[in-house]
Amino acid sequence: MSKKEEILHYWNEQAIQYKESPLATTPDIIAFEMEINVILKELKDGQTVLNIGCGNGVKDIEYCRHRNIDLKGIDFSQEMIEIAKSQSKITNELKGRLQFEHGDVLKLKEPHTYDVVVTNRCLINLENDEQHIKAISNIYDTLVKNGVFLMLECTQQGLININNVRKEFGLEEIKERWHNKYLDEDKILNYVKTKFTSVKVNNFNSTYFLISRTLNALMAKQSGEINYTSDINQYASKLPPLGEFAPLKLFILQK
Ligand SMILES: C[S@@+](CC[C@H](N)C(=O)[O-])C[C@H]1O[C@@H](n2cnc3c(N)ncnc32)[C@H](O)[C@@H]1O
Repeated sequence: MSKKEEILHYWNEQAIQYKESPLATTPDIIAFEMEINVILKELKDGQTVLNIGCGNGVKDIEYCRHRNIDLKGIDFSQEMIEIAKSQSKITNELKGRLQFEHGDVLKLKEPHTYDVVVTNRCLINLENDEQHIKAISNIYDTLVKNGVFLMLECTQQGLININNVRKEFGLEEIKERWHNKYLDEDKILNYVKTKFTSVKVNNFNSTYFLISRTLNALMAKQSGEINYTSDINQYASKLPPLGEFAPLKLFILQK
């Protein structure tokens, strides 16, 4: 099996195991909700939206519950897409229109089509810097003039920052999972600045990550297991974002 096939197999298995649960894509449900909210703030009624690497479609359903948008979710895992389709069929009260289909960020087919493209922890499943750049270039081509790419992805620099704080507390390094390659923020920013007219970075969950991955992690050391929905994590998610202590960042890139 190639590395790509192994990664695809992993996501198919996650879909089979967790079905329509958010746990299919992360154990951290509070972070999952924060991701939905930060994207929702950027979506406006009337837009056409492509969500690439949509997983089981939980977030797409939330976006269409709150916004009158035309949203297509695509994912390279057919198992994820089957679950997304079955969930959207049984969901009522959507303001927007929703469809799902199989698709790969490295082989996009619809040039100049979407007002907004979203990726949410999708590009980190690619294998190297070249594939990150290729995916971003494909997404650029998919956007209409003045369209916006909401790139919600993890960077190596954010991971180094949180690991430096963890070290102070004697906590072990957080390592990238075997199927992830976090973005090299410097390289990516250099590249996107040559293509997009406006580039903004939102460290929306920095404070949450700082507290959950240090204080909550220390409490987990005492109790023997990580409680992702602990009180301290709940409180941390309500604090304003300070610093750059989270690997995950929202890059708002306008064509
Ligand atoms: C961490 S999950 C995130 C899912 C969803 N965006 C969310 O935030 O809950 C990553 C998703 O990206 C998909 N993916 C990975 N590589 C992909 C590719 N080359 N093209 C499209 N989807 C891909 C996986 O199948 C998986 O569903």
